[in-house]
Order: sequence, then C-alpha cells, then structure tokens
Amino acid sequence: MTFRVDTPVLPSTVVAAEGWSPSSWTSKPVLQDVDYPDQAHLNRVLEKIGRLPPMVAPGEIHRLRQQLADVAQGKAFLLQGGDCAELFDYCSQSPIEAKLKVLLQMSLVLVWGARMPVVRIARMAGQYAKPRSKPTEMHEGQEILSYRGDNVNGYDPSDRSPDPERLLGAYFHSAATMNYVRSILAEGFADLHHPSNWNLHHVKSSTLRQEYQTIVDRLTDALDFMKTIGADPNAGGAKSASPVSSLSTVDIFTSHEGLLLEYEQALTRKMVDPSNSSQQKYYNVGTHFLWIGDRTRQLNGAHVEYFRGIENPIGVKCGPSMKPDELVALLDILNADKQIGKVTLITRYGADQVDKYLPGHIKAVQESGHIVVWACDPMHGNTQQSVSGVKTRHLIDITRELSQAIRIHKQYNSHLGGVHFELTGDRVTECVGGSMELLDAELLDRYETHCDPRLNYEQALDMAFLIAKYQEKQRGFSGVMSL
Ligand code: PEP
Ligand code: CO
Repeated sequence: MTFRVDTPVLPSTVVAAEGWSPSSWTSKPVLQDVDYPDQAHLNRVLEKIGRLPPMVAPGEIHRLRQQLADVAQGKAFLLQGGDCAELFDYCSQSPIEAKLKVLLQMSLVLVWGARMPVVRIARMAGQYAKPRSKPTEMHEGQEILSYRGDNVNGYDPSDRSPDPERLLGAYFHSAATMNYVRSILAEGFADLHHPSNWNLHHVKSSTLRQEYQTIVDRLTDALDFMKTIGADPNAGGAKSASPVSSLSTVDIFTSHEGLLLEYEQALTRKMVDPSNSSQQKYYNVGTHFLWIGDRTRQLNGAHVEYFRGIENPIGVKCGPSMKPDELVALLDILNADKQIGKVTLITRYGADQVDKYLPGHIKAVQESGHIVVWACDPMHGNTQQSVSGVKTRHLIDITRELSQAIRIHKQYNSHLGGVHFELTGDRVTECVGGSMELLDAELLDRYETHCDPRLNYEQALDMAFLIAKYQEKQRGFSGVMSL
C-alpha cells in the first residue's frame, strides 16, 4: 500500500503569551527537579518524545474548556479522580475498566443529584510523577533516593536512580491507556445504565443502605422513564450538554500533575486552533488537563512559567500556605485575559483548616474578577499516620472537609463546582471508614498504594451518594446523610 502525504499548509499567525515559549520555563528556578546522571541520554529521549504523535487533539481540549466554563458558571459539575501515583502496571485491562466503572457510576449518581451534566476528568494516562517532601529516605539503615513515580525511577529500593527511558515508558503507557479508554467508551459501557443491579451489600448500616437504595431506585426510575418516552439515554452523544444526554455521555478527559517540565515541553505543540483556523496556538498534547501541585506553584517558578503559555485548561492546588493576594497574582499570570473556567482552583486545606482559609480565598478571587472553577480535594489535607504505621485518611475527615466547603461557598455567595478524589476501582484497604466501616486494623489487608491512600470502589461511591444528597438538599429536598 502506498500513502501520499500532503504537507499541510499551516496558518502563519502564532498566538502565544508574551515572552513565552515551550522552553521559557528553563530560565526560572525549577522545584522538584530530577537530577539525571546522563544528560545526553535524557536529551535523546526527549527528542524522540518530541517526534511522537499527539495523544489528544486541540478540539478535545477546547471542548473540555467549554465544559469547565459551564462548571464555573454553575451549569455543570466536575468530578476528577484517580490514583495518587499511577503505575505502569495499571496499564492493563482490568484496572482501567475498574477505574472507568467507578468514575462513570459516581458521575451517574452526581448527574442525578445535581440535575446537571457532570464533567469527568480521570487522574489517569499520565499521572506518574510525584512531588516528594524529601529527596531521600532511609531504607534498612541506608539513605536512598525517594521514589519519584514510575516515569522517574522504580519503587524497588534497588532501582532508585532516575532513568530517562522511563519518560518514554510514560508516553507509551499513557498512549496505551488512552487507547483502551477510548475504545471501551466508544462501545458504550451500557451495563452502567442499570443501577438497579448495583450491589449495596457492603453498606453495613441498614439505615444508610436504605438511603442508598432509595437513590438507586429513583435513578433507575428516571432512566426507565426516559427510555419509555423515547429519550434514550444511550442516544445522547458526548457533545450535547443537556442533562438527559449527559446521563449517557461517555466523555472522559484525562489529567495529571504537570511536574516534569522536560516531558511536558516535549509534548507541547503548535497546532491549529479549532475555533479559528487562521491561527496556531500551543497545546500540551499529552493530556487534556494539567494541574500545578501545591509544592510547585511559586509565582516566579518554572512551573507557573510553563503553565501560563498552554491552551489546555489548568488546575492549581491551593493549600493553607497560599496567601489570598498570592492567589490573585497567580491567576493574573496564568489567565491574564480572565477567561471563564480556564483555571480550576483545587482546594485542599484539611477538615480542621478549611473554614480558616477558604473564605479568604473566595473573597480575594471574587474581588479580582476572575471566574474560576472551585473544586474541593478533601484528600490531601487529611492524611495521617495509622495505628499500623501506614499513611491513611478517614472518611469522616474527608466528608467533613467536603461538607464544610459546600457550606462556605454558599455562605460567601460562591459555589463548589466540583470534587477531586484519590480513588481506585479496586478493593484496596487504604482509607478508614465509609459505609463498609473499614477499620484501622484492616488497613494492611490490601494496602497497595505507592504514594497516598485512595478511596476504594465502595468508599468512592459513598462520596458520590453523599454529594448527591447534599445537592438534592440544596434543591429543596430534605435529609442530610452522615457516614
Ligand atoms: C496529589 O494530588 O497527589 C498531590 C501531591 O497533591 P498536592 O499538590 O495538593 O499536595
Ligand atoms: Co496524592
């Protein structure tokens, strides 16, 4: 077979932020930098990645931006979730299916609760790199480099030297994951539209099980009703934003923390803007959505410099150390023309601190004129040491931070647009509590994370039911649920 390749005629106007280029970050201080022993090897790998094809298209990035603009304006709800540290080993059929299943089921509950479309973003297909509080750790009396994520080094203590080939591994594992996600979504995941089959046996409290069952029954009724009147939820299609079609919308966007800037730069491409074909813009084509971690968001740092120039929607983690005026300065740099929903602020203070910091951040952003997506990450401020000596999180704290965030936003005339969870579709035992009443003493049964503790399938569904109940209450129905 022969192919004729026409060289595309590209528009000559390149639109970019002033003074920015994909490599302008290199002139700024780089926190969480990786020290590669062989720089020439790194350069060869980066050059190769730079030639590999895009994993996502500008049109998809624009679609997500539009959907996040809806979230910012209270017309849609954001669900973002996935592993803390994705492993190359998770690039396999059943872990991918399990994660999609939990995200889709959660979103179905949330669509029902909020009566609005849910925008789904997976922490997946690239969430490999991890920021660490210390570059080294002690292992059997020896100081060794910390595990920095599968795209940097190995979890095994004997494999901690950073290896550039792992960046290439990140590209191919991301691409394979995305390929399988796209193919099963195209198939429809139809079984998820039968919530009547959901198994709620894990719910220990009979009152809570009854509450969940009521939601599932009403959700099933709503779906049956739509089928009866011919509004087939499977016929919706991803592009429509109507609540009916969104019950079957099978758009799942991908995301990861934009930590390793060499890798991100190699995947930053000048591409034709789908909304104006006479110009080209810079897109990160390795994922749809990237966020800046709480440790790398310095105003004058390399990460902020890189992020200000890409067209993708971006997130910023905001913890207790973020000053309100710093937050506004950050938004001014990252989103100079104040585009609605371009930035998602992912707040993560901890259940005991949310009422101390969130009001100041909300007021500062309101006064600045920026219209952002406010998402609550109730995981990262609530990590503690378990009795058994591992890192854990208690569902009670996660619930407390989330419910307080909802209340505070309402009180300050703002709204919580979404949630950000570390979760997995698998039956792990990493967080304490929830409707399955997982005990501290049970944590070691299936404690599998290589980084932070994740909600398991049942605990993730707990969160969706809880939020749906709040949303229903906000619409005027009664009843608050506790876990
Ligand atoms: C994370 O999301 O895994 C993370 C490291 O979060 P943060 O930057 O908020 O600490
Ligand atoms: Co984490």
